[in-house]
Amino acid sequence: MRMAFRFILPLLLVLGGTAWVAAPLVGDLIERWFRADVEMRSQLVFHSVQDTVAGLAADTADRKAGRRIAELFQRIALDERVLAIGLCGADGQLRQRSPAWPKAMACPPFPTAGQSFTVERLDGGPVLSATFPVAADRPQLGSLVILHDLRFIERRSSSAEIYLAAALAVLALAAAVVTVLVARFTLRGWVKAVRRGLASQPGDGAVSPEVAPLVREMRKMIRELEAPRALTEAIRIDWSPDSLKSLLRDELPGAEVLVVSNREPYIHNHDGDTVTVQRPASGLVTALEPVMRACGGTWIAHGSGSADQLTVDANDRLMVPPDRPAYTLRRVWLSEEDQDGYYYGFANEGMWPLCHIAFIRPTFRASDWDRYVAVNRTFAEAVVAEARTPDPVILVQDYHFALLPRMIRERLPEATVITFWHIPWPNPEVFSICPWKEEILDGLLGSSILGFHTQFHCLNFLESVDRFLECHIDREHSVVRASAGTTLVRPYPISIEWPPAALAGQPPVEECRARVRERFGLAPDLHLAVGVERFDYTKGIADRFRAVASLLESHPEWIGRMALLQVAAPTRGRLAAYRDTQAEAQAVADEVNARFGRDGWAPIILVPRHHEPDEVFTLFRAADLCLVSSLHDGMNLVAKEFVAARDDGDGVLVLSTFAGASRELLEALIVNPYDIRGMGEAIQAGLSMPAEQRRERMKLMREMVGEHNIHYWAGRMLLDAARMRKRRQIEREIVAVAAAPARPAEDRTTKGKRGKT
Ligand code: G6P
Repeated sequence: MRMAFRFILPLLLVLGGTAWVAAPLVGDLIERWFRADVEMRSQLVFHSVQDTVAGLAADTADRKAGRRIAELFQRIALDERVLAIGLCGADGQLRQRSPAWPKAMACPPFPTAGQSFTVERLDGGPVLSATFPVAADRPQLGSLVILHDLRFIERRSSSAEIYLAAALAVLALAAAVVTVLVARFTLRGWVKAVRRGLASQPGDGAVSPEVAPLVREMRKMIRELEAPRALTEAIRIDWSPDSLKSLLRDELPGAEVLVVSNREPYIHNHDGDTVTVQRPASGLVTALEPVMRACGGTWIAHGSGSADQLTVDANDRLMVPPDRPAYTLRRVWLSEEDQDGYYYGFANEGMWPLCHIAFIRPTFRASDWDRYVAVNRTFAEAVVAEARTPDPVILVQDYHFALLPRMIRERLPEATVITFWHIPWPNPEVFSICPWKEEILDGLLGSSILGFHTQFHCLNFLESVDRFLECHIDREHSVVRASAGTTLVRPYPISIEWPPAALAGQPPVEECRARVRERFGLAPDLHLAVGVERFDYTKGIADRFRAVASLLESHPEWIGRMALLQVAAPTRGRLAAYRDTQAEAQAVADEVNARFGRDGWAPIILVPRHHEPDEVFTLFRAADLCLVSSLHDGMNLVAKEFVAARDDGDGVLVLSTFAGASRELLEALIVNPYDIRGMGEAIQAGLSMPAEQRRERMKLMREMVGEHNIHYWAGRMLLDAARMRKRRQIEREIVAVAAAPARPAEDRTTKGKRGKT
């Protein structure tokens, strides 16, 4: 519409001005043409009657002659255009006239030059008097005067002016419409050519010459946008809360940050008459909480604690952390039925076993799916309610919210949705058993960015999309283009805070060793292995105990000299698979202890209760070895926490090859958790490893985690988001240019040099 006005208005002005100037000229021209006509006609009339009139005028004494002149004049005056005709004497007196001769009209002077034409303005309008000598050689006969009514010329000339103006107006309109249409088509083609040009490789000749300068300019701008990535990847930045804050300030100025997860970072529970705060055993929370402390913003999560309702304000919000408030926690309430269907049902009996290779059969119930859809919608409402701007950065977390990205995109189309999938993504064969696979993929593709821990999981996801959805996958850039938008699919290996907050109040390592050994009644010189997890079947806890048995079998010298302290937080206890896991682990521990235990020494100490981060860190510092033998794990942050806890530079990590962390912590002793004997041998190798080698390995692992900490993880995702927002801005500019009046491409290119947007 704006474009149409831009074209039509100037055209109308120009053509209106032309009409205003040209119309009087045209009118004047027409008047002159008609007047020449009238003069010729007068001459014609005069020549046809000249002889008759001369003859009759000479015979002045004959009264008959006078009557005949009068009759002749009457006949001539019948002509529509002839107003009157008269005969003037040599003395200038009117001697004969037709009846319509105006009274005010006197005889014009005798035409000495052979004829004369003058225009007089009488009451009725302009009158042309054409005067001819009756006989050129006898001036005494007087002159013949023919009067013409010129009003018709005026009428015609003003009609011509009106027609001209109307014709120009119609022409203007037609020209404007044609121009707008042609401009539209041309610009559309031009925008397409620019897009094609940008998608092609420089120098492959695919860019049309018309848009080549503009494409060159835009490529330069996009290269400039790539600069921050190059910077972070080329230069070793010490990622910290401050660098994350400055990234937000510089690259995403004014952006509002919202996090959505099922698990909340702080749970308030009743404990007798008091209310206690619990930090949940969740890798997701461990990772995200420091990010939120640095960025501020709002974290939306399920309020699952028994005292959660007591501690929020009227809008279900509270500031956390309790001791140093830095961001808002917005709690969402779910009914028992919601939790059964969405959390225990679809999320933990469907998606969790589907994504983890632990040989537990996923269960898919339609009623659970319905709850899952409904709860995702509830969270979408909460996101919309919490968002204060139309384009917040929303960090959606994990398999509880596969549908949420699309739901958010529909409600907040300008938002940047970064979804992170904290668990593995299965291969397409495995994924295909999910009855709602298309909905899940489509829901996730509502994200601007979709992150996994490893490239392997990204590839599994892209394969699944390829197999089950109709869309374009750009494998080179790891981008999925669907009709509803574009999603960047990338690996972002998650990490932990460096140094972790839980390390701050820790006593020296020696003291931790002494305390823990004393607490569990262990000999001061006992070699201690620790395991810290949720009681989940993916963690391979029972197999770990079997590996201890294998160690003691193969290397009996460790009997009475080593123990595995396994703390495991009971989790998802309403599900049979979890109760069975705990029961099995307990049974295996009892069996191994019964078989090898003696004199107050047991090889396995199983503590099935939740431990707060401080307690966990003390355990890590007290240990000689940490055992992380997950059957399958997206990342496993326990491995990284162990490394972070060892600021003394000592300790051995035994790590499952099926945990994402094994891709980064290469100096760990990598094991196959299904190979019990191999795991036993790895424990043996770890317990007997020379101090120098332990320290060398720990040093490298600490460098890795320190560098690639949680702020690095968040920073990379936010940088990608910033780049995406800037690209979208450029695209918007292209569209805006398409809507603006056409200018030559070359011209626009030079004016478009405005650097980074
Ligand atoms: C995994 C999941 C998290 C979850 C955590 C604890 O790490 O990826 O999303 O929070 O387990 O499980 P829970 O069911 O207790 O939240």
